[in-house]
Amino acid sequence: MSQNMSVHGEWSSRWVFILAAAGSAVGLGNIWKFPYITAEYGGGAFVLIYLLCVLMIGLPIMMAEILVGKRGKASPINTLKIVTQETKRSNFWRIIGWMGTFCGFLILSYYSVVGGWTIAYVVKVSSGIFSQIDNLHDKTLIATQVSGVFNQLMANPQELILWHTVFMILTMVVVVGGVQGGLEKAILYMMPSLFIVLFVLVGYAMSTEKFVEGITFMFKINFSALLFSECNNGYCTFNGQGILAAMGQTFFSLSIGMGAIMAYGAYLPKHVSIAQAATIVVLSDTLVAILAGIIIFPIAFSNGLEVNQGPSLVFNTLPIAFGHMSYGSIFGTLFFILLVLAAWTSSISILEPPVAWMVETGKFTRLSATLVCGILSWALGLLTIFSFNILKDFKPLAEFALFKDATLFDLIDFLTSNILLPLGGILIAVFVAWFLPKALLLEELEMQESNWLYRAWLFTLRYITPVGVGLIFLKSIGALT
Ligand code: PHE
Repeated sequence: MSQNMSVHGEWSSRWVFILAAAGSAVGLGNIWKFPYITAEYGGGAFVLIYLLCVLMIGLPIMMAEILVGKRGKASPINTLKIVTQETKRSNFWRIIGWMGTFCGFLILSYYSVVGGWTIAYVVKVSSGIFSQIDNLHDKTLIATQVSGVFNQLMANPQELILWHTVFMILTMVVVVGGVQGGLEKAILYMMPSLFIVLFVLVGYAMSTEKFVEGITFMFKINFSALLFSECNNGYCTFNGQGILAAMGQTFFSLSIGMGAIMAYGAYLPKHVSIAQAATIVVLSDTLVAILAGIIIFPIAFSNGLEVNQGPSLVFNTLPIAFGHMSYGSIFGTLFFILLVLAAWTSSISILEPPVAWMVETGKFTRLSATLVCGILSWALGLLTIFSFNILKDFKPLAEFALFKDATLFDLIDFLTSNILLPLGGILIAVFVAWFLPKALLLEELEMQESNWLYRAWLFTLRYITPVGVGLIFLKSIGALT
């Protein structure tokens, strides 16, 4: 093993890295979460703010994360230690690694629960229940029956625990295998198949009667739905929550702010263009999210479904479409299998940073480290499971208006996506853009100082990204109102 290589191994090529990073980014965040929060904040304006955040915050931070990982060649915790020591910077910056790893535990805990739902749906759809429901021929009845299937699943903690356990085991199996084991191969086939199925579903969505309404909802910009919480007699109260949610979704969907992409960057072979890789990853992630919206909204509208229904949206919408289609059970099964795969290639990137760190301490093997981290996160996941049934009415922060309806799951989601990830993001941006020597940046990016792309990146990362994230933060905690 060359000295310039991470102890955990290396991607076999640049394309494998791009696929792995795209595999990390594309996941439940795009297909499950993006449509329902877009609906929650009123559609078009949210999408616009999201796209702006992706460009001004997401892309520059993704490049910065890959860069730091490539330099440190270790788990995020040790990468930060190595890079701060090399450049003689304060130990303070090591918080990026620790906070990210902690955040990863929280994210994985609920990610695995929702990943479990998708496995449950593979089984349900393949059993043909949704085609049977379709025989009812009455839209409202069909919608009620389809959502009944989801509600039943949510009401059953044992079943949820079973699928959560299966998903976590799948994640752990790949992480034990290491970089070049199963991981590379799974991603190689998954991404192209996912795109094919999504395009077929777009075709179906286009054939639904309310396709235009669906598209209009997603792209027609209506800022009042996003910005104003309440309007009385023409006087509206400004509410930055939608913008905060768009920013949080950017971090979550691109897997940035907690070290997942940094950990993957550590396994980069030499001579890979960070800018090119990050751009491809960001574009594919955004494309999948937009496609998911283009599929889901028209189907929902055409079947008289409420789009603002939260986490159940995908699960209550797509089965109706599969019910209507010929060969729907086969096609639906394929779709949910791909969704499981997409979630799986993301979850492994969440588990990798803490496992890599534990292995580096020399006290754990990959197997024991994976077991410890996986089991811890699994146990935390029980909180999310119970938020949908036995603890459904437990709203620990109900006295704050913002969290009046928030279950434990909502709070963990808010804390990770809207607070910890953006905070990690600001720290990474400031550390890289203000504290790392230019020579180091240029060396890792393999760019010349005169390159306009480098200049644009550095400028954005120095000024726009931290100020943007900071303002959104302050605004949403009311400090600026
Ligand atoms: N980006 C993943 C998704 O969209 C989730 C994720 C978040 C993965 C954070 C890694 C780190 O589903």
